[in-house]
Amino acid sequence: MALLKIAVLVSGRGSNLQAIIDSIESGRLPAKILCVISDKPDAFGLERARKHGIEAISLDYRKFQSKDDYEKELLKILKDRSPDLICLAGYMRIVGKGLISAFRNRIINIHPALLPSFPGLDSQRQALDYGVKVSGCTVHFVDEGCDTGPVILQKTVPVLGNDTEGSLSARILEKEHIAYPEAIKLIAEGRVRIEGRKVKITEGK
Ligand code: GRF
Repeated sequence: MALLKIAVLVSGRGSNLQAIIDSIESGRLPAKILCVISDKPDAFGLERARKHGIEAISLDYRKFQSKDDYEKELLKILKDRSPDLICLAGYMRIVGKGLISAFRNRIINIHPALLPSFPGLDSQRQALDYGVKVSGCTVHFVDEGCDTGPVILQKTVPVLGNDTEGSLSARILEKEHIAYPEAIKLIAEGRVRIEGRKVKITEGK
């Protein structure tokens, strides 16, 4: 099977990036990371990439005149490398329309809640404040909305009575590290098909 070529976009810590790297290096995920790009030069995710011999590109958002200029440069970098899939992993910017249409149905994201509940920022806090008893994470395709694209897979965790934002986030993060490589693997195996708002997963051989 040909390796799925991916680009990963990060803004910070990069623990999901690490989970993807680890899955690839242990032979569980038939993929290759072409590059890791960050809009923040000090993102720890860039260091993780360098440590594993992956091209780490710092695209400092503050150095651009406008969002448009930034997006143009990002698009150019991505087109040059030509990934099969772009994985947003803690990337804190709304992806522009140009990028979405250039890579239609080839951008995915991980979100720390069970979408469509609690989109946007601080999802774990939103879940606690609402008082839900179950939360989790969602891997989904990226469309023009905010966390609205077709859902690939979800994993759940219980919300406990004494949870803080930190304890719930940590419980969800553990599941994220399983869910993200799993979703990418399904795509790498050609088992993911989008039908309207739904994602169909075909059985593995
Ligand atoms: C994760 O909780 C992810 O779901 C959200 O941002 C966080 C990124 O964490 N989109 P990390 O940078 O992968 O450690």
